[in-house]
Order: sequence, then C-alpha cells, then structure tokens
Amino acid sequence: MTHIVDQITGHRRMRRNRKADWTRRLVQENRLTVDDLIWPVFVVPGTNVLEPIAAMPGVNRMSVDRLVEAAKEAADLGIPALATFPNIAMDLRDQTGSNSLAADNLINQATRALKKHVPSIGVITDVALDPFTDHGHDGILRDGVIVNDETVELVARAAVIQADAGSDIIAPSDMMDGRIGAIRQALDEAGHQDVGIMSYATKFASAFYGPYREAIGTGGLLKGDKKTYYLDPANGTEAMRDAALDVEEGADMLIVKPGLPFLDICWRIKEAFGLPVFAYQVSGEYAQIKAAAMNGWIDGDRVMMETLLAFKRAGCDGIISYFAIEAARALGKQA
Ligand code: PBG
Repeated sequence: MTHIVDQITGHRRMRRNRKADWTRRLVQENRLTVDDLIWPVFVVPGTNVLEPIAAMPGVNRMSVDRLVEAAKEAADLGIPALATFPNIAMDLRDQTGSNSLAADNLINQATRALKKHVPSIGVITDVALDPFTDHGHDGILRDGVIVNDETVELVARAAVIQADAGSDIIAPSDMMDGRIGAIRQALDEAGHQDVGIMSYATKFASAFYGPYREAIGTGGLLKGDKKTYYLDPANGTEAMRDAALDVEEGADMLIVKPGLPFLDICWRIKEAFGLPVFAYQVSGEYAQIKAAAMNGWIDGDRVMMETLLAFKRAGCDGIISYFAIEAARALGKQA
C-alpha cells in the first residue's frame, strides 16, 4: 500500500543515512577535536590563589603558580593554547592603563612562567587596556572620548613588551582603528617577526561580557558603554569591512566575539578571507549554559558539545572557550 508520503518524497528519504549509529558516524561532516580548543584563563596576583567567579561556576581566577599547574593539565589534555587575562590590583589601575607597559606586570609574569614551565602550550595574550584602566575602557579616556591614535601607540608598545616576555600570539581586543598595522610594525621593528597577531577582528558591543567584567574586576568601574568602538550587533556588513582592514594590516588569525549569536559572521569571514577563524564563546554564553544546567533544565555536557560543534560547522578553525578543559576531558573519554 502506498502512503501519501511516498508520492511526495519519491526515493528521496533523508532518514536512511540517519538510521544507525554507524551510518551517522560515517556521514558526519564536522568533528570537534582537542586541537580546536583555546582555554581563556584569569590571572590574579599572589601565590596559591584560586578564586571562584560567581557568575562563571567552575571558572577560577588563578595566581601564576596555580596557573602553571592548570596549564600543565591543559597541555596533558592536548589543548594547544591558553589565552590569558589579568585581574590587575586596583591601585595599579589608572587613567591611561600605564601598568600595561610594565615589563613585569601580571600578564607578563604569567607569560614568563608559562613559557618556562610549560613550553609546549601556546600563550596568547590579550593586549587591550581595560584590565589596566581605572575606568574599565579599552583605551585612553579623555573628555568622555576614547582617544584612538594615542591608544594605538600604547597598545603597540604593550604588544612588544608582551612579546619580549615570550607571548606567542598577540590578541588585540580593543577595536581601535589601525591597531593591527601598528602592532605588526612595532613587533617587526623589535625583531618579533615570528610573533603572530590574532585579531579580535569583529568584536561586538555585547551584553554577553558581563561575567568577564566581574572576573577581571572592571564590572563596577566601567562608565558608560563601549558602543563608540565595538561593533553594533545589528551590523554584519560593517563587521566584514572591519575584518577586511585587519586582514590588510597583517592579521594572521581572526576572532569573532561573542560566538554563538554571531555564527553568521564566522561563516562570512571564513568564506571571505580564508584565514584561520576563531569564535570566542564568551563569559555570558558560558554562564547561560552553566546556570541552566545547574537548575537541571538542560543537559549541560551535551549542550556544551553541541555549541562547540556548531562553531566548527560555521567555519571556525577553533573556539576560545571556558569549557576547554571540560570539553577536552569529554573528548578524551570518547576516544
Ligand atoms: C575587553 C575584553 C572583553 C572580553 C575580553 N576582553 C569585553 C569587555 O569587557 O568589554 C570579554 C570576554 C568574555 O566575556 O568572556 N578587552
């Protein structure tokens, strides 16, 4: 007997390839591996400090010694790289973020320790001023304006100092115009031709950064918002033009941030430039999943893996994610 569905589908039955675990494995288009993961970490002064971050259950701020231990675990799990973010002592923060230029500041201490004790793991350092300013902005604030060109000069100098400390990749997240070219030139002049630039090419003025600001202590400080320098979440075409400039200026790799709400941008950027593209699954994305999982409303492990895989499907070469350790462990069990 023929059903109406037979007339409609003819022989085109999509479910044949989904009928068993082995067929599904055979036709699977994308796969997440530990090589796709970059682990963002928060560093605090002191020794033997491990401070939980309330809005990011499972994520801790770590003193450099604890960070080294954590990095060893990450390296053992096969995670290729860490991205470090410092929580700078409040008395070192000022109007211009001058501590970003100190050779022995917290982020550079962390880099030196990591390179010495865990040389196999890549160190990616963020070069924005926000952890160092007393107003929480990513640039020099003057008369209510984030001054572009002077900030770029500062950021380029800070990048060289980070490279001197051993940073493998500089990741500018400030969204000032012209920063990639300026950083490339400064690095080259200082003999750091091999230090790469992973540009936060498209960084949106997003509400998803909330827990991060708690983590690095800028939450209470930030006056106003970052809309005069980050991208409007409504604008995909403008994001492409911004990314194109970073490519022209010499970026080696590109970041899309936040991640999941901007998968279309990931795809467009990968298609347009063919450079390695990384999504940053940011603090608020992590917090959402954790909160729902802790309430028993979703299966946290499965949602974590599904989101990470979605980035791969959207063309990303990898993901900067607070889930990196958990995901690496889960992948290890599957293998
Ligand atoms: C700023 C910076 C931000 C994040 C990392 N560096 C955003 C911001 O505070 O405006 C956010 C990361 C996250 O939310 O996980 N240079």
